[in-house]
Amino acid sequence: MIDIKNTNYDLLQKQLSSLIEDETNLIAILSNASALINDNMDKINWVGFYLIEENELILGPFQGHPACVHIQIGKGVCGTAVSTNETQVVKDVHQFPGHIACDANSNSEIVVPIHKDGKIIGVLDIDAPIKNRFNDQDRIGLEKIVSIIENQI
Ligand code: SME
Repeated sequence: MIDIKNTNYDLLQKQLSSLIEDETNLIAILSNASALINDNMDKINWVGFYLIEENELILGPFQGHPACVHIQIGKGVCGTAVSTNETQVVKDVHQFPGHIACDANSNSEIVVPIHKDGKIIGVLDIDAPIKNRFNDQDRIGLEKIVSIIENQI
C-alpha cells in the first residue's frame, strides 16, 4: 500500500485566496494556482488547466512535463468532464475508455470543470503516477479550489 500524504485543503484554499485576491488576469491566476497545487499535493506528476477555445480544449498554464495541446470536447477525461459538466475521478486511467495519455507516468486522474457566468470555460486537471490517488476528500477540496478561482475570474 502506497502512503499518500493528505492534502491540507483548508490551508491550500486560504493560500490560494490570498495569492490571487488582487489579481484579475486569468493566465496569472491559473499559473500561480497550478504552482501552488503542485507544491502542496503529494504523489502527483502533472497539474494544470485546459481552456475552451472554439469548441475544443486548449492547454493552459500547468506544472509538469509538456502535454497535448488540443483535446476535443467529449474525448478523454478532460473532454468528458466538459461534456458531462461533472468532476471526473478516475482510479485507473488505463481502464477509462478514450483516456488521452499525455504523460506515460500517469495512472490516475481528477478533472474538475471551471465555470464563468454559468458556462464551462475549462477544466483543472491533475494526474498522479499511482492508481487510486484521488478520493472524495480530494474531489471536495479541489472543487472548492476551483470555486475560489471562479469567484476571481
Ligand atoms: N489525460 C487527459 C489529457 C490531459 S493530460 O493528462 C495532461 C485526458 O484524458 O483528458
